[in-house]
Amino acid sequence: MTESAEVLYRPATADDIPLIVQVAREMWDMGAAKAMEQRHGLIAGRPWQEHVADSMLSAMEARVSQGSCIVAEVNGYLAGWASWSFDEERSIGTVGYNGVHPQFRGHGIGTELVRRAVEALREGGMRIAAVTTGLNEGHAAARAVYEKLGFKPLVQSVHYTMEL
Ligand SMILES: CC(C)(COP(=O)(O)OP(=O)(O)OC[C@H]1O[C@@H](n2cnc3c(N)ncnc32)[C@H](O)[C@@H]1OP(=O)(O)O)[C@@H](O)C(=O)NCCC(=O)NCCS
Repeated sequence: MTESAEVLYRPATADDIPLIVQVAREMWDMGAAKAMEQRHGLIAGRPWQEHVADSMLSAMEARVSQGSCIVAEVNGYLAGWASWSFDEERSIGTVGYNGVHPQFRGHGIGTELVRRAVEALREGGMRIAAVTTGLNEGHAAARAVYEKLGFKPLVQSVHYTMEL
């Protein structure tokens, strides 16, 4: 990506969902699905990318239909996306799945997507914004983005598994 390339931020539509899912399949190697396969072998006989695609598809269908997802486009390519959801009763808004294709990283797109997601939560009347991410190296950039935008760590957790 060149420094002069323009980034278009716009609401995600149903047509974007297959692209988001495809990008996630290609890059979501920092999450639990791949780690689970590496430790325990194939889960339900299917590679980790298919589990990522299933989770991403159902989350994106819900978020896009609620108008709670935006995408970043560069020269007509889907560079990234961010989604969010509202807990009206507790007034807590949560930043959900977000990502930037490796080819477009390091240019501020991820930060701008999450900044806009947080803005949507603020405009939606939420009192608190929340987001959860991993403590592994693959999530280091996500932590940098969240902390840059003002999020502070609350509770740290660990995901354990063992063979039965
Ligand atoms: C997180 C992600 C969306 C950021 O996208 P991006 O467009 O590269 O983000 P930006 O360019 O706005 O900012 C990235 C920041 O992370 C920092 N960063 C990148 N790699 C890092 C690392 N290994 N350790 C610490 N900071 C790192 C960059 O320096 C930059 O911060 P800076 O602007 O203060 O220098 C992208 O890396 C991604 O898709 N990661 C995998 C998916 C993911 O983790 N999604 C969030 C799930 S909770």
